[in-house]
Amino acid sequence: MGPGDLEKILMRLPEDAVPELLSSLRDGEDAGVYLLADDTALVQTVDLFPPIVDDPYSYGQIAAANALSDLYAMGARPLTALNIAAFPCGFDLEVITQVLLGGHDKVREAGAVLLGGHTIEDDEVKYGLAVTGVAHPERLTMTAGARPGDVLLLTKPVGTGILATALKGGFMSEQDIAEAMRSMCTLNARAAEVFGRHGVHACTDVTGFGLVGHLLEMVQAGRVAAELWAARVPLFEHTLEMVGLGMVAGALRSEPQLQAAVKLGPVDGQVLDCLFDPQTSGGLLGALPPEQADAALEELRSGPCPRASAIGRVKERDEALIEILTDEGA
Ligand code: CO
Ligand code: CO
Repeated sequence: MGPGDLEKILMRLPEDAVPELLSSLRDGEDAGVYLLADDTALVQTVDLFPPIVDDPYSYGQIAAANALSDLYAMGARPLTALNIAAFPCGFDLEVITQVLLGGHDKVREAGAVLLGGHTIEDDEVKYGLAVTGVAHPERLTMTAGARPGDVLLLTKPVGTGILATALKGGFMSEQDIAEAMRSMCTLNARAAEVFGRHGVHACTDVTGFGLVGHLLEMVQAGRVAAELWAARVPLFEHTLEMVGLGMVAGALRSEPQLQAAVKLGPVDGQVLDCLFDPQTSGGLLGALPPEQADAALEELRSGPCPRASAIGRVKERDEALIEILTDEGA
């Protein structure tokens, strides 16, 4: 069963015509949205996954930053969180404590509070959180809304899937991938704030569907198309080197749905693997009005996101939903 199959099952579930429901997961948004009052929307999402790094405290932090990221992608302010975890019977209690502490500390850093949670026994460790936030319904940043001419800003480098594969295979140590570790632990809070102040038209976070997959969701939702400039996409240290050793996670590049939507310029195959690499706790991808993009990028780079980059442009709807070029105008 692949991600596409799960989507099909979701579409077969009954659709609830509740007027307060502003976005359900079938809308392809980063989180579900429920209108509580005229000026308050409740924003909720949940995410969990097996360890991708060895250090348990970092794993907890990454899981929390990743779960909270969907709230930031929607412009919401996190309020509460619930742990959801699975550990094997007899698992080291000190390790469990470190995982949960990492999650707790990240939730506190976000200004939210951990209410509790649920843990079950399972052969494989899994940890994540259900998180809840609020936003003014008119200030929600949806995946839809990108307009032709908008500049696409990406706030973090890509390559965490490739580097986690290399780490698991013993080709890299946690010291080698320190830049990616730090990035995965970093909340998208301040990036979302910069986007919000610069009139962002559409926003999503880059996670399991890779940069190209999430950009595709954005252009489909907005009924537009986009140009992606490969040379402008920031990569974590060692990412290309590890692609060269065959450390590619998943097979998104050969997904028919993605292939059909993408037109390829003369872009290096190893760079392409990075553009399709599934991310954990990746950055925000925002479509910003061109007159605001330079100022937003400058603020991101001199502040919370030193490697933020303008990676492409939104265009009128075209046959190819995404055209991957080597660089702007190339
Ligand atoms: Co998301
Ligand atoms: Co999500």
